[in-house]
Amino acid sequence: MSKHLSIIVGSVLGASEYVAEALEQVAQSAGFTTTLQFEPDLDVLEKKGSWLICTSTHGAGELPQNIQPFAKALEETDLSGIDAWVVGLGDSSYDTFCYGAMEMEKRLTEAGARLTAPPLHIDVLNHPIPEDVAVEWFEQQVKQ
Ligand SMILES: Cc1cc2nc3c(=O)[nH]c(=O)nc-3n(C[C@H](O)[C@H](O)[C@H](O)COP(=O)(O)O)c2cc1C
Repeated sequence: MSKHLSIIVGSVLGASEYVAEALEQVAQSAGFTTTLQFEPDLDVLEKKGSWLICTSTHGAGELPQNIQPFAKALEETDLSGIDAWVVGLGDSSYDTFCYGAMEMEKRLTEAGARLTAPPLHIDVLNHPIPEDVAVEWFEQQVKQ
């Protein structure tokens, strides 16, 4: 049976989009069918199976605008059928390092989702090409 991965992106400047596209390739190579949402819409997502949330942090530790309605909608949703990976991009010079990803982790688990693995928080100060570390990590995750 084919596995499906829904990839959900929160991004302002595009870095998380690049990471999500790189991880989509990894997932496809591992046998997943994929969908990629740059404007996340909970209504069109299956509420079961595997999700990958890839989001940066902006403002004073906030989620990017494009993913905020999705994050809010999770409050009203039963995600007990979801296994989720979370990849956060942030900059450790902010004391709100990766708060956006942490907010997603909280909302997902409060809605009943299971985190498949401890989230990956990528510090773009140390990893100017965040795709590299994300791909290495995700290859391990999807390896059977
Ligand atoms: C105005 C601004 C505010 C930011 N605030 C935070 C923050 O609070 N915490 C954090 O970890 N990173 C913060 N960052 C760093 C971004 O999360 C980081 O540059 C990330 O790679 C951007 O990804 P994106 O292009 O997908 O939006 C901020 C960046 C900018 C430009």
